[in-house]
Amino acid sequence: STERPLFAIREFERAARDRLDPVHHDYFAGGAQDEHTVRANESAFAAINLVPRVLRGAEPPSLEVNLLGCSATMPVLLAPTAFHRLAHPEAELATARAAAAAGVIMTVAMLSTVAVERIAEEARAVLGGADPGLWFQLYPQPDEELTRALVRRAESAGCRALVVTVDSAALGRHERNDRNDFHQLPDHVQCENLRGLGGSDSGDVRRVTLSPEISWRHIEKLREMTRMPIVLKGVLHPADARLAVEGGVDAIFVSNHGGRQLDTTPASITQLPLLAEEVGGRVPLLLDGGVRRGTDVVKALALGADAVALGRPIVWGLAADGADGVAKVLGLMRSELDNALALCGVATPKEITRDLVSLP
Ligand code: FNR
Repeated sequence: STERPLFAIREFERAARDRLDPVHHDYFAGGAQDEHTVRANESAFAAINLVPRVLRGAEPPSLEVNLLGCSATMPVLLAPTAFHRLAHPEAELATARAAAAAGVIMTVAMLSTVAVERIAEEARAVLGGADPGLWFQLYPQPDEELTRALVRRAESAGCRALVVTVDSAALGRHERNDRNDFHQLPDHVQCENLRGLGGSDSGDVRRVTLSPEISWRHIEKLREMTRMPIVLKGVLHPADARLAVEGGVDAIFVSNHGGRQLDTTPASITQLPLLAEEVGGRVPLLLDGGVRRGTDVVKALALGADAVALGRPIVWGLAADGADGVAKVLGLMRSELDNALALCGVATPKEITRDLVSLP
């Protein structure tokens, strides 16, 4: 376990760096090209001010929310991040235990290094057999049968929503990986969700295709394939948000993939109000990218998000101290959010209104 207590999520970043192979650290921390968007995600949150109300006589804060039929103890989810085995030997099993114990929704990555069934089993065990409400992230594949097999797999594992990543028509250019010549996973790190699918027993990540041919037609196909709610992840343009709502998706995940895909996109928090206006409350909005503080969560909710998600902070917690590290990251977020709500004069996430923030 970590030698000394850590008091802020950003401190876990340093603890993780001390433990990780520097090449793997670069994979987790890095982004596309000049990493402008990686930095913008965090700095845009810092540039927004909170304008609290006082003397509201509010109840002590309650953080509970319901998202697409899943109840959660706070409006903070785990974003899908690939290859947890690079961060810790217990990989996604450790992450899942911490998420389940905290009562938060974990989005299992299609590129997880433990199979989704095992992750679900581990999470259920923590809850004495109750449904952990896992979500499953999918990169839609040009090979329809492979897509269908992955969807079936997620469904039979009990996943409650399908998070379809749509910002990946190609892989972003990660120059840190190029410099480190990191283009192949170690043999013991395999994409376990691919095994047994499409007539192959290989978990080789090279079976996955990120293709510019993916279109709205593939989303319609997914709609026909499953009754799981569909969340489109990686939407930044208001016109796409409109098409998504008109196309019947169940939620929109405002995200620039943590600055790992197209560099120089706006920070997701900067773009959120435009999408919120376009969507007008017709579907829930989620946001990720640069959320590091409880105050960031309040800002995102004030600007129209129903919940936020954490990408790198979960990986830092996992690398620093396995399930305990993830639990500590989630615990810090919960206590900071609780504190921020009280200081804003608000008792529940639903009471967070637009007037509590002032934009730069
Ligand atoms: C990701 N992200 C991601 N997204 C996705 O849809 N599928 C994936 O497999 C991955 N893998 C992945 C790996 C790593 C190491 C990172 C850091 C990110 C993106 C992730 O879901 C999320 O959008 C961002 O991480 C959010 O930004 P922060 O919280 O990392 O700033």
